Amino acid sequence: MKQILHIISSANGQSSVSIQLGNAIIEKIRQTYPGSVIKERNLLENPLPHLEEAHITSFFTPPEYRTPENLEAIIHSDEVIKEIKEADILVIGAPMYNFGIHSTLKTWIDHLIRVGLTFKYDDKGNQQGLIEGKKVYLALVSGAVYSEGPMRPADHVEPYLKTILSFIGLSDITSFRVEGLAIQGLKDTAFQKAIESICIS
Ligand SMILES: Cc1cc2nc3c(=O)[nH]c(=O)nc-3n(C[C@H](O)[C@H](O)[C@H](O)COP(=O)(O)O)c2cc1C
Repeated sequence: MKQILHIISSANGQSSVSIQLGNAIIEKIRQTYPGSVIKERNLLENPLPHLEEAHITSFFTPPEYRTPENLEAIIHSDEVIKEIKEADILVIGAPMYNFGIHSTLKTWIDHLIRVGLTFKYDDKGNQQGLIEGKKVYLALVSGAVYSEGPMRPADHVEPYLKTILSFIGLSDITSFRVEGLAIQGLKDTAFQKAIESICIS
């Protein structure tokens, strides 16, 4: 039995392919770990505020000196970090928009990366992630093909997510892709192909 956190960042509502892929991954996780509990964070339905001065001021104010305004500003970040800490497995839906992630997912990341809480520098100045022992599955969706071929260098979704998640210690990452949704000859089989590739380790 695992605690699964499903992060949704599609702007396509109910027709979202990344939500369907994320749900298919979760279904396979549940077959492997019966009784698993799922928590969903839909970043489009409940968007987090963009990072502003008030958030950053609060991040860098020691807890004992935080004013009521500082405490108000830090609520979202604390919630995001608490959710991650409570989860055993993360399923992150990341559709490609303009070669990158949706801005709501970027904002979620901006609230997640906190010195002293999700990463730190040791005495020698070495960076260390503080979120450990969790599995991450990425549900990646795109109109073109990025896993191989000429468009590969234009993928700013998977490399970015792997870099930033590993930075805080989430380095056990497996990706599943529905790709080629805009390409004749690929789009009709892309989803089924992705579903068949899902393997829970
Ligand atoms: C505004 C917008 C920008 C997009 N940009 C890209 C892109 O840069 N590259 C790509 O391969 N597909 C792109 N797509 C296609 C989406 O990745 C595709 O529609 C996917 O299904 C979106 O996932 P979702 O259904 O979960 O929202 C874009 C789609 C939209 C609506």
